[in-house]
Amino acid sequence: MPQPVLLDTISALRIWRNAERRDGKRVGLVPTMGALHHGHLSLVNVIREEAESVVASIFVNPTQFAPTEDFSKYPRAFERDLELLSEVDCDAVFAPQVSEMYPDGFSTAISLAGPATVGLEDKFRPTHFTGVATVVAKLLLQSNADVAVFGEKDYQQLAVIRQLVRDLDLRVTILGAPTIREEDGLAMSSRNVYLTGRERSVAPLIHQTLQEAAEAVRAGMPFDAIEREASAALTDAGFEVDYVAIRDAETLREPAKDAAPGTLRLLAAAKIGSTRLIDNIATE
Ligand code: PAJ
Repeated sequence: MPQPVLLDTISALRIWRNAERRDGKRVGLVPTMGALHHGHLSLVNVIREEAESVVASIFVNPTQFAPTEDFSKYPRAFERDLELLSEVDCDAVFAPQVSEMYPDGFSTAISLAGPATVGLEDKFRPTHFTGVATVVAKLLLQSNADVAVFGEKDYQQLAVIRQLVRDLDLRVTILGAPTIREEDGLAMSSRNVYLTGRERSVAPLIHQTLQEAAEAVRAGMPFDAIEREASAALTDAGFEVDYVAIRDAETLREPAKDAAPGTLRLLAAAKIGSTRLIDNIATE
């Protein structure tokens, strides 16, 4: 596979994209924060179905981290990321510096409601989605991509981005891609490298617990009892649980008591040691 073209300025990205367009290619964008794993790489394959030319962005976006969070220690592995991207079919990598994305005097942020304010991630990371939406809007406009892909792993993020694109009339198709897991069910995440051996061995319990909860939803158990039991199971195993929640899969609001399993999503966030993990599954 040829090496992807490395682009580190917005103008280089625009020149590259215009050339691809002139050749009649649809351009696909895969936004990432690097420290790539197979989950990220699967996004390149998903977008290939819809785009003849693919650009992955690698940018650890400071505005989506709270001051108490892990921005400075977030894993960075740029050389290895480039190697991995050269093994999949990726045409270009956009990797700007922070000063290119947020020059001195940068003063704009996107204010959100709807799926960004449903009491899930937003409750525990109140400034997070504004940072995500602002950087994703910038990336979509900079690349003028025809299509962009986001993982269901970050289910609320995907909903926020779909809403953003709808509300701002951005001319881009958003694709959602399934969560790629380790063999024991743990959702792949750049943050999994933080886990100690013992933490790593209990981490798959999040996925197991969600699967059991989905079974209970299908069996018709009351939603609040399912949430409580799942949360207790994780707490007993040593997790500090932020939420286990059964929500409407589209709006992420609390569902009606008799909502059909096919309309729901089960979402969880919990800390093991100092690492916060999130996961979600469909209930059908
Ligand atoms: P990051 O966490 O690097 O994830 C980049 C993309 O990969 C996101 O769309 C995420 O949902 C997807 N992804 C992560 N783990 C996955 C897995 N196990 N299976 C499938 N897809 C997975 O999400 C972000 O970066 C940032 O918030 C970003 C959108 C780039 C904005 O800064």
